[in-house]
Amino acid sequence: MSDLILGIETSCDDTAVAVVDAEGSVRSSVVSSQLQTHAAFGGVFPEFAAREHITNILPTVHEALRLAGIQPADLKAIGVTRGPGLIGSLLVGLHTATALGIGWNKPVIGINHLRGHLRSADLEERRVVYPATILMVSGGHSLLAYMKNETDIRLLGSTRDDSVGEVFDKVGRMLGLGYPGGPEVDKLARQGQANIPFPRPLMQNNYEFSFSGLKSAVSRYLAANPDAVLADVAASFVQAVMEVLVKKSRLALKKNPSKSFLIVGGVAANSQLREEAARLCQNLGVQLSLPPVRWSTDNGAMIALAAFDYLKLGIHKPPLPQLQLSINEF
Ligand code: KG4
Ligand code: ZN
Repeated sequence: MSDLILGIETSCDDTAVAVVDAEGSVRSSVVSSQLQTHAAFGGVFPEFAAREHITNILPTVHEALRLAGIQPADLKAIGVTRGPGLIGSLLVGLHTATALGIGWNKPVIGINHLRGHLRSADLEERRVVYPATILMVSGGHSLLAYMKNETDIRLLGSTRDDSVGEVFDKVGRMLGLGYPGGPEVDKLARQGQANIPFPRPLMQNNYEFSFSGLKSAVSRYLAANPDAVLADVAASFVQAVMEVLVKKSRLALKKNPSKSFLIVGGVAANSQLREEAARLCQNLGVQLSLPPVRWSTDNGAMIALAAFDYLKLGIHKPPLPQLQLSINEF
């Protein structure tokens, strides 16, 4: 049997566990979602998230092993997210992984969640052609990075304030949509006209993002226009976000020799972003790598795949929490 790693991810509100082999084939992937719990608060309630992880983690581990048809003895190692993330949530995954590692006599490797997201595009089939430029747009992070290969990663720039996903969620709330707002804003925007001139923040030629001004502009517009057509507000907001993301991505692709362009993180599910990225890559003659949506959002498989990178390089980070981690760090 090829080497197998158990990946455990509990950095935010999903309890996710997967079994992956060294080729990136996913033998099982189980995600226990907490959406119902947090929907009432319009965002993740950290203490509740930690408590649900405690309830869900062991059943999720058992289910992942059962679906993969393996025993703990078949595992080579356990990879577990050590950060960035919510402290209570991280601790549940880290302590569980540590206990399982002692009980099963397996090494436990702490993994940078951001490195997991970067590697998600290589799950199932090796899709990524290096060197690659990567746009990571998730609920917690927005950044552009350059990957010479699987493990040589350089940060180009990130957001100065809110992440793209966070802004989608907050604008969704302003529009009276459910949580998380991203998918709902995406749907509503498809029905409207992008006819409101919202600001395009930080359009200079650099790789940094800033979205909090745009969020405030949407809020002010809604307060001043109580009869606004909400679909038009959504469409105009999405258009503003897209123009910024596409401009910065184009700059990154032109300045850094890239064979492919990857988009990872939950916002990679956005229908307009997927269309715009396809157009951009066609114009530049670059291959577009979009992981299936199930690998774009938080999952244990990406953590397991990143753990193989760490093993290959002989990097063994202890399973200790690290609330802030940059993409350059293991
Ligand atoms: O990567 P992810 O699952 O969690 C983090 O690690 O942060 O990303 C979740 C984010 C949420 O903010 C959600 O609203 C957003 O991804 N999202 C979307 C779409 N689907 C999910 N944003 C825009 N359009 C979508 N279709
Ligand atoms: Zn994530």
